[in-house]
Amino acid sequence: MGAEVHDVDLSQLTSDMAAQIQQAFDDHLLLVFRDQQLTREQHKAFGRVFGELQQHPAKVHLGFPGDPEIFDIRITRDTKVANGEVWHTDLSCEPIPPYASALYITQTPEGGGGDTLFANMHALYDALSPPIQQLLKGLSAWHDGRQDLRAYGLELREGQSYPAAEQPVIAQHPRTGRTILFVNEAFTVRINGIAVAESRALLQMLYRHIESQTRCHCRVQWQPNTLVLWDNHALHHHAVWDYYPHTRVGERVTVQGIGPLQALR
Ligand code: SIN
Repeated sequence: MGAEVHDVDLSQLTSDMAAQIQQAFDDHLLLVFRDQQLTREQHKAFGRVFGELQQHPAKVHLGFPGDPEIFDIRITRDTKVANGEVWHTDLSCEPIPPYASALYITQTPEGGGGDTLFANMHALYDALSPPIQQLLKGLSAWHDGRQDLRAYGLELREGQSYPAAEQPVIAQHPRTGRTILFVNEAFTVRINGIAVAESRALLQMLYRHIESQTRCHCRVQWQPNTLVLWDNHALHHHAVWDYYPHTRVGERVTVQGIGPLQALR
């Protein structure tokens, strides 16, 4: 997982370059582009190479200000809970979870830090023992966006709604058909059809598996104007907040999924 792509100016994309980037993305799941000078529209145009852009539910359902296709990252000395500190994949509460995310960081913390860790969910499935793989196949789980909102101290007010969806625990990647482990500490509330205590124990086991198998991880060190594109089905990520009281700023676009995730048969 993970490759740096050199000698590409994403503001000047041709269809030939886009096809090569899609191939590299299928192969590596995580692409890093340094020294990019992108307007917001160019950032969005790059995201659209991979599909339609997702409108963020906080902007659609909760009235958060700003462009609904942009997820804003601005961590400052006044931030109480930094975004993305729990290992997660973006918006698995959507019935069709997003396929990809493209995060463009323009300001990195003075003094360093603010890396993002990624975990390969193909490799993490393979790293489970066969009897555990067998146990998980055919199970589904409930992913509820309200759980994620609560982590930031937000509760829905009367009349507001937010996405929630059932997802397979072991899924097939809709584009490549490869197997993925798909539970998400930020969004998964329970595994369906088993006792609450069993669901809790299984989820905790899987979350510790995701965070502890460091041979399945890689780490991106940002520089200003780095854009990172990741496969949001195949990878989890964890933003490290080790730079208080400094500031980290960027914008993310999120690419819609191709279709609902199918369980592995
Ligand atoms: C995210 O969760 O998409 C943000 C990741 C980051 O800030 O590095």
